[in-house]
Amino acid sequence: MPPAALPLLLANEHDTEALAQALALAWAQHPAPRLLITLDGDLGAGKTTFARAFLRALGVQGRIKSPSFSLLEEYTLGIPDLQFKGTLRTSAYHIDLYRFSDPQEWDDSGLRDVVGGPGVSLVEWPQRAQGLLPAADLSVHLEPMGEQRQCTLQAGTELGQRLFRALPEGLKSG
Ligand SMILES: Nc1ncnc2c1ncn2[C@@H]1O[C@H](COP(=O)(O)OP(=O)(O)O)[C@@H](O)[C@H]1O
Ligand SMILES: [Mg+2]
Repeated sequence: MPPAALPLLLANEHDTEALAQALALAWAQHPAPRLLITLDGDLGAGKTTFARAFLRALGVQGRIKSPSFSLLEEYTLGIPDLQFKGTLRTSAYHIDLYRFSDPQEWDDSGLRDVVGGPGVSLVEWPQRAQGLLPAADLSVHLEPMGEQRQCTLQAGTELGQRLFRALPEGLKSG
C-alpha cells in the first residue's frame, strides 16, 4: 500500500504547476467518471495556481478565471480515450467556497449535483462546506514558506491512491 499522505516540498510556482500537471495526466490516462480534489491553504497559498495548471494539462484553453466571486467556473474537457480511440467528453468544475456561508446555498446553487455527479471538481476552501462535500479522492494542502510551499497530499479513495502511485519518482522525493 502506498502511503495515505505524502509530504512534498514545492520550491516555486513551477513545482506547484508540475505537480498539478502530473496528477491531471495520471487521471487522464484512465479517466474515472468522477474526480474530486480539494485544495486548502490560506489566501495566496497557490490553490488557484494548482487548479489552473491542472485544467491546462487537461486541454483547457483561454482565460481560466479564479472563481472567487462566481463560486463556480465550468469547462468542457475532451480527453483522448486511448482504449476506444475516441474522445471522452466530460465537465470540469473549478469551485471556490471562500464566500460560501449558507448551507441552504449548497442545494440552491446546484453545487450538490455538481460535486456528486460525473466530471472533475477542484474545490478551494473545502472547509467552508464541511459536512456537505463528499469525501475527496485527493486533498491537497498548501502551506507557504516564502516562495516555497510545503504540500501534503492525502488520498481519500482508491482513485486518489492510484494518482499517488502514478506520480513520477522525481516529484515524490521533491
Ligand atoms: N511555490 C508556489 N506555488 C504556488 N504559488 C506560488 C508559489 N510561489 C509563489 N507563488 C505565488 O503565490 C500566489 C498564489 O496565488 P493563488 O494561486 O491565487 O493562491 P490561492 O488560490 O491559494 O489564494 C501567486 O501569485 C503565485 O505566483
Ligand atoms: Mg484561489
